[in-house]
Amino acid sequence: MMTEASISRRVRPPRAALACAVLAWLPALAAAPEAQSPILAGEADVVLQRPDIYQPGWNDLNKNGVRDPYEDPAVPVENRIADLLGRMSLAEKIGQLLQLRMDNDSEQAQAGRLAAGGLGSFLGAAPTPGRRNRLQREAVEDSRLGVPLIFGFDTIHGLRTVFPIPLGLAAAWDPALLERVNAFAAAESAAAGIDWVFAPMVDIARDPRWGRMAEGFGEDPWLASQLTAAAVRGFQGDDFGRPGRVAACLKHFVGYGAAEGGRDYNTTEIGLPTLRNVYLPPYRAGVAAGAATVMSAFNLLNGIPASASRFTLTDVLRGEWGFRGFVVSDWESVLNMVHHGYVADKAAAATASLNAGLDMEMVSDCYRNIPELLAEGRITPATVDEAVRRILRVKFAKGLFERPYASAQPVDLAAGAALAREAAARACVLLKNAGGLLPWRRPRARIALIGPFGDNAGDLLGCWPGLGRAQDVVTVHQGLAAALPDAEILTARGCELEGGGGEGLDAAVAVARKADVVILAVGEPALWSGENDFRSTLDLPGRQGELFERIAVLGKPLVTVLFAGRALAVPQILEKSNAVLLAWHPGIQGGPALADLLTGAASPSGRLTVTLPRSVGQVPVYYDYMATGRPLRDYRDGSREPLLPFGFGLTYTHFTYSPTRVRREPGAPETVTATATVTNDGPVAGAEVVQLYIRELACSFGARPVRELRGWQRLDLKPGESRAVAFPLTAAELGAWTPEGRWSAEAGDYETVIAPDAAAGQPVPFRWQ
Ligand code: NOJ
Repeated sequence: MMTEASISRRVRPPRAALACAVLAWLPALAAAPEAQSPILAGEADVVLQRPDIYQPGWNDLNKNGVRDPYEDPAVPVENRIADLLGRMSLAEKIGQLLQLRMDNDSEQAQAGRLAAGGLGSFLGAAPTPGRRNRLQREAVEDSRLGVPLIFGFDTIHGLRTVFPIPLGLAAAWDPALLERVNAFAAAESAAAGIDWVFAPMVDIARDPRWGRMAEGFGEDPWLASQLTAAAVRGFQGDDFGRPGRVAACLKHFVGYGAAEGGRDYNTTEIGLPTLRNVYLPPYRAGVAAGAATVMSAFNLLNGIPASASRFTLTDVLRGEWGFRGFVVSDWESVLNMVHHGYVADKAAAATASLNAGLDMEMVSDCYRNIPELLAEGRITPATVDEAVRRILRVKFAKGLFERPYASAQPVDLAAGAALAREAAARACVLLKNAGGLLPWRRPRARIALIGPFGDNAGDLLGCWPGLGRAQDVVTVHQGLAAALPDAEILTARGCELEGGGGEGLDAAVAVARKADVVILAVGEPALWSGENDFRSTLDLPGRQGELFERIAVLGKPLVTVLFAGRALAVPQILEKSNAVLLAWHPGIQGGPALADLLTGAASPSGRLTVTLPRSVGQVPVYYDYMATGRPLRDYRDGSREPLLPFGFGLTYTHFTYSPTRVRREPGAPETVTATATVTNDGPVAGAEVVQLYIRELACSFGARPVRELRGWQRLDLKPGESRAVAFPLTAAELGAWTPEGRWSAEAGDYETVIAPDAAAGQPVPFRWQ
């Protein structure tokens, strides 16, 4: 019942005396798509162990400083929540549903509000343990019930130790590496007083005009699902209540990546088959991995704001997947429903969100209308209680009731830098290496390092630099100079990153003429990608294209290093450079990592997780498209083939694949196995990312794409070494989601191929079951 509790403020037991509880988190969901967890109805599994005692408001003993059940770590969490809920006033409940910017008011104004229990969470604004703890103290020690705040922050690809952008991290195709990176980011965040990170972003992106492609794992739902699970494990570990871990947030639920025209925040139209098979799977994987929270998106999804979609926020997320954490809106996305033209005012926006299943409102304050909405019967007390319950569940699981304060922990910045260097090297994708120009093995050469990225620190940090500092960045120039102490490195900026400013073009050409080899470091500024930054062209900004042409024409051996937060369309660079390395925005150790790769101290092993278009007119372009009924011809004015396919990436060696074969397993008709042998027939050791694709030729519940990734293996092979690879194909790999949300693998005709990328290899037919 929503009653105003009337207990006055009282003496609280010292927090330090409370034991710290190790709390079991959400029930593990089965990993196989077909084995879905039953519907969890939120309260269904609340077990009152002592129903006689643990009823809301059951005792008066606490006047003497005796703990209430909700404060007692020995009491089961759901009982603690029930007890606390029973004590909360409506105003205190509403407070829990609101999140404000840390820099919103003066600390003093906030303090009054916190003491009144009027706020549940803060986000943003460069947290420090001291600042955080001051605010937390108001909430915990000066408010009537002492419910702790939860502090969220955008730790997206590192906090102070900035790693490559997520699109780059994804290019390593290595969940274990991503997990280590996020574990480090979690430790650094926790040390800064952050409880909760707004990451991973798991929106599938197929249109590189959209700047937020940088923040996700690429275009493929299977790969993105595995990486999402790893990202969540990295942040949360087995139990995000442990010190050094943070709660994760899957965002932006859902369909945000399909923004029309790549224009951020724009409307999306996504049919059920595509929603089920492309946009939802990474979220499902993240929920199965135990993600504590989900953020609802800004966009309209088929005319309904994603932040008001009962279908996605309740039916799918909770009903089908059993998610038991809470949903936070994106920044003012509740209020934005008025701007969308979906509701007339803030009260209606709050009604729509709450009834859809959105628990916490970020920044805007539509939820302040809750008392009137209750009085008018537009929402029910149970809906409000359930939203509060979900938020409290995460706060309890985070251990905030036992350990509300952060203590500045030392962070091993050197270990972080080593990991950042490893990750940046693993993120880079070698797109071309004609004549084996790389690795560069002449230590005494004269090298011209040209372009606006040669000595650039800030733009290496990428679109979500967290608390990263430009002075922590080791630039390409610094990295090369350290790796090649005997080389003569000549530098020239050539032109600016964007806009005019080509005064240095002639000087750059003069420098290039003197060199044995030119390394051209060009690309897009970090802030041309990320939120609210999108492009109508996909080539080099400013006069960099001109710089490239003037250098390329000299005929010097030319290595182009591309920095980008998206898939660029740069066919002329591929054509005219001898070697091309795609470095994304590589983070603080971009320089050393690139030097490692350029000199052969490390070997390139990244693979594209987005298709590279030939021109902006081709987008959206992705490998798992649907076949048409008629042969597709080229554009009148250009090829329809992308520049480079999903999965592509070269190494310093060469691999050959035997033809794919399909083997039946005796006595196990539900499994067939695809096999091939991969041989390193090049001169040096190297890592191959062996990819497995399938196709179902006729599907009763809706046509399937021409290829779908269903597995990969990373092989490290010495020169001359061969390795047999085998991929079992079962219902878990061969199926797809029906529009109703059932994983279905049909008996019938399929094809499969084991290949180095999505365009390679000869698929072989087989029949399943
Ligand atoms: C808006 C962005 O869309 C979201 O990704 C971010 O987490 C929030 N702002 C909080 O900063």
